[in-house]
Amino acid sequence: MKKLYVGTNTKMYKTPSAAVEHVLKLRELTRDIAQQLELFVIPSYTSIAPCVQAVGEDILIGAQNMGWEDEGQYTGEISAPMLEEVGARLVMIGHSERRHVLHETDEEEQKKIACAARHDFKILLCVGETAQQKSYEISRETLAQQLKIGLHGLDAEIALHRLWIAYEPVWAIGVNGVPADEHYASEMHRHIKAVLEELYGDQGREIPVLYGGSVNNENAVKLIAQPYIDGLFIGRSAWSAENFNQIIREILPVFRSRDLAEK
Ligand code: 13P
Repeated sequence: MKKLYVGTNTKMYKTPSAAVEHVLKLRELTRDIAQQLELFVIPSYTSIAPCVQAVGEDILIGAQNMGWEDEGQYTGEISAPMLEEVGARLVMIGHSERRHVLHETDEEEQKKIACAARHDFKILLCVGETAQQKSYEISRETLAQQLKIGLHGLDAEIALHRLWIAYEPVWAIGVNGVPADEHYASEMHRHIKAVLEELYGDQGREIPVLYGGSVNNENAVKLIAQPYIDGLFIGRSAWSAENFNQIIREILPVFRSRDLAEK
């Protein structure tokens, strides 16, 4: 049975105690469907250790970013060994806010991915075009560039077992974001899977591709009903455990019937 990928990035919200309360509540609410989910939460660095202590392996806890060296003169950065020691099992690389607010480049994302690969993390690479790139009709080229540079040199064995992709169009993310139309999102996912196939062969299509950007109670079902969308990566609408649980329960049966139909 295919698992539904669902996760949240809490960005620079929630103190450690609030993050722990969130994951504990989420675990409680989703306990009966946990086997069907790949459920993950990506809180701030200082919340990682207490969240892991609170829920253990029941929810995958990740980091929002990571430096590309194991140690060094990088004030303010965090390293793979530091994250490993506190129990993070996933690292997110190249979130839109890191690319566009903090000006990270594809080459930097590539170095971070190579570092995450040397360690044992699952890797969540975020890609997405800006509104301007979309208006120039270079969304596909932009996504291909982000994937090909970011994943440059990544071993197929690691890609096929530990890599996840989040498609998060920049114009769809956050309070000013406009959620992507589900058909457009599905088409971009189809393209991402074609690039993954080019990089890693047929099996590249199995790498999970999640949609993110203003997912909410109104659009979640429409998005997950589309082919090529393996899961949802949610910000604001998932910061209440109750609402996150509600969205998960609404999309799970739709995902299940799609999975059956595709077999
Ligand atoms: P929103 O769902 O709040 O738009 O955030 C999406 C996101 O950035 C997840 O990483």
